[in-house]
Amino acid sequence: MNILVTGGAGYIGSHTCVALLEAGHSVIVADNLNNSKAETIDKIKQITNTEITFYQIDVTDETAVGAIFSQHEINGVIHFAGLKAVGESVEKPLEYYCNNLVSTMVLAKACQKYNVSRFVFSSSAAVYGDNTVPFVETMNLLPTTNPYGETKAMCERILTDIVKVNPAFSVSLLRYFNPVGAHESGLIGEAPNGIPNNLMPYVTQVAKGKLKKLKVFGNDYPTVDGTGVRDYIHVVDVAEGHVAALDHLMGGVHIYNLGTGRGTSVLELVSAFAEATEIKVPYEIADRRPGDIASCYADASKAKRELGWVAKRDIVAMCRDAWRFENKLL
Ligand code: NAD
Ligand code: WQD
Repeated sequence: MNILVTGGAGYIGSHTCVALLEAGHSVIVADNLNNSKAETIDKIKQITNTEITFYQIDVTDETAVGAIFSQHEINGVIHFAGLKAVGESVEKPLEYYCNNLVSTMVLAKACQKYNVSRFVFSSSAAVYGDNTVPFVETMNLLPTTNPYGETKAMCERILTDIVKVNPAFSVSLLRYFNPVGAHESGLIGEAPNGIPNNLMPYVTQVAKGKLKKLKVFGNDYPTVDGTGVRDYIHVVDVAEGHVAALDHLMGGVHIYNLGTGRGTSVLELVSAFAEATEIKVPYEIADRRPGDIASCYADASKAKRELGWVAKRDIVAMCRDAWRFENKLL
C-alpha cells in the first residue's frame, strides 16, 4: 500500500517508515520539521535502501495536504504529526489544541474527499489519566492533567464520531505507553532539544557525561521500590504495531494499547541500563514531579488477540539501543 506518514521525520514516525518499507509498503512523508531534521529522511533511505517521497509541509495547511492527496494515490494515512511535550502544553494550550486537533481534522477531511478509508492515529496512554493499572481499552477515559492529553482524547472522539456516520472509514487508535530505544543501526532515535524531560534520554545523557546526575522524581510511591512505574516499550516494537494495525483495518474504530504489559520502576530501569552498558548512572532522590502518577502499564492482550502483535524487545535491549544511538550522535 501507499501510505502517507505525517510526522514521519520524527522519533516514532521514522521507525515506522522503516517498518512499513521493510513490510513492502511505499511511504510518503509529510512533516514540517518543527521537531525533527530532514537528515532523518536520508537515514530512513539508508537503512532500507529504498526511496521515499518527502514533503516539508504543515499538515494543518488544508491546501498543502490536498495537493499531496491529489498527486498521489494514497491507500492509508498514519498520523504522527503533533506537538507532544506535556509541560509545554500547559504553557501553550492554544498551540497544542490548534496543531493537534486541526491536523487531525484536515487529514480526515482529505481522506473523505479522496476516498481514503484507512487511518491510524497516534494516541497515548495519557488518555487513561489516573485509572487503575493495568489500563484496558474499555476503561472510561479520565481527564488528564494537561492539554496535551486532552488533545489526544479529543482527536479520538472526533475520529470516532466520523466513523459513526461513515462506517467504511476504518480507524485504528493506538495508545502508546512509553516508547524508548532506537533502531539497532544507531542511525535514527530520539534526540530531544535541550535538557530532556523523559527518563531514558536523561539517563543516556548522564551516562555520556552531558548531564551530571539523574534526579529520581519521588521514592514514596506505592510501587515495588517507591519510584514511578511505567510500561517502557521499544520504539521498533511500536513501529511494528503500526504495520500490524494497518494490515488489520476492517471498518469501524479499533482501539489498541501498544505496551509490553510489564511495569518497570525508575530504579529498575537504571539497573537494566547498567546491565546493558556496564555504566552505573549516578542518581539522587528528588521530590515527586507534579502531575506524575505512581504506575502506568498496559493490558496488552487485545493487540495480541486481534492483531497478532506483541512487543518482543526487553528493557535491557531498549537501554542498549538507546545508548548506541546516544553514542552515534554528534
Ligand atoms: P516527534 O516530535 O519526534 O515527531 C512528531 C513529528 O511531527 C515531528 O517530526 C514534527 O516535526 C512533526 N510535526 C508536528 N506538528 C506538525 C504539523 N502541524 N505538520 C507537520 N509536521 C508536524 O514525536 P514522536 O515521539 O515521534 O511522537 C509521534 C506521535 O506519537 C505524536 O503525535 C505524539 O503525541 C504521539 N505519542 C508519543 C509518545 C512518546 O512518548 N514519544 C507517547 C504517546 C504518544
Ligand atoms: C517516566 C518516569 C518520572 C525523568 C511522558 C508523557 C506521556 C507520554 C510518554 C506522550 C516517571 C521518572 C523522569 C527524570 C525521573 N508521552 N523520571 N527523572 O511522564 O511517564 O510519560 O512520556 O504521549 O504522555 O507524560 O515519562 O519518561 O517523563 O517519566 O525520575 O529526570 O521516570 O517521574 O516516573 P512519563 P517520563
